[in-house]
Amino acid sequence: MAQNLVPPHHIAIVMDGNGRWAKRRFLPRLAGHKQGVDVLRRCVQACAQRGVGVLTVFAFSSENWNRPQEEVSGLMELLAKALSREVPQLLRDGVQLHFVGERAGLSDKVREGLAQGEAATAHNTRLVLNVCFNYGGRWDMAQAAAKLAARGEPITETSLNAAMALAHVPDPDLLIRTGGEMRLSNFLLWQAAYSELYFSDKLWPDFDDAALDEAIAAFHARERRFGKTSEQILSAPSALARA
Ligand code: IPE
Ligand code: IPE
Ligand code: MG
Repeated sequence: MAQNLVPPHHIAIVMDGNGRWAKRRFLPRLAGHKQGVDVLRRCVQACAQRGVGVLTVFAFSSENWNRPQEEVSGLMELLAKALSREVPQLLRDGVQLHFVGERAGLSDKVREGLAQGEAATAHNTRLVLNVCFNYGGRWDMAQAAAKLAARGEPITETSLNAAMALAHVPDPDLLIRTGGEMRLSNFLLWQAAYSELYFSDKLWPDFDDAALDEAIAAFHARERRFGKTSEQILSAPSALARA
């Protein structure tokens, strides 16, 4: 049934549950994060195969610095390694990589890896992959406002939107959070204004293609009204566009 339906153009995911996945196996938390990278690789391919245009994933929040030092440094190391290892596959899959977050505070090695990954994949057009790392929705809004203030520009919805870290893509259509928690944890506070929210009890390392398809099917069952009435939407399906 779902074959003829247009997939959500932009999917955003809070990849939560790595620690619990590891704990259930009596493994260190970092083993869960490593498994999480493998699942992300698979998810990127699955999204590209399904015609999704943009995938935005939450990999490390502004608040995750508060975790034990060992886990934080493990996550930094994992990112640096993943960047150098995954770029050839991203190139094969036609993925354009974007880093979204505050670069200050990251090590030179990580910053260089990010810049190289972005430059190497910049010409790809099949799928845009935004990796939110050292990212927080509040940070994004504050940095956008500060940018406009420094330029002496008026703050409007349009100017603020254009100054935000995700200005290169439209807002997410579907926002998935794995791991069973029903909160945003400072993810996409501005851009998720009209996203369809989907919460999965699956832990991120267990989030397979079938789970993605379930989320997309749930999305297709929603009626997006953008403030209008159901009757308006049903009488003019093209009115689904926000403008
Ligand atoms: C998400 O998994 C990954 C990061 C926040 C870096 P968690 O590490 O939060 O896993 P749980 O929630 O403890 O299971
Ligand atoms: C959100 O997960 C951040 C990422 C998935 C990167 P957390 O595990 O940090 O969220 P809280 O602390 O449970 O709200
Ligand atoms: Mg968590």
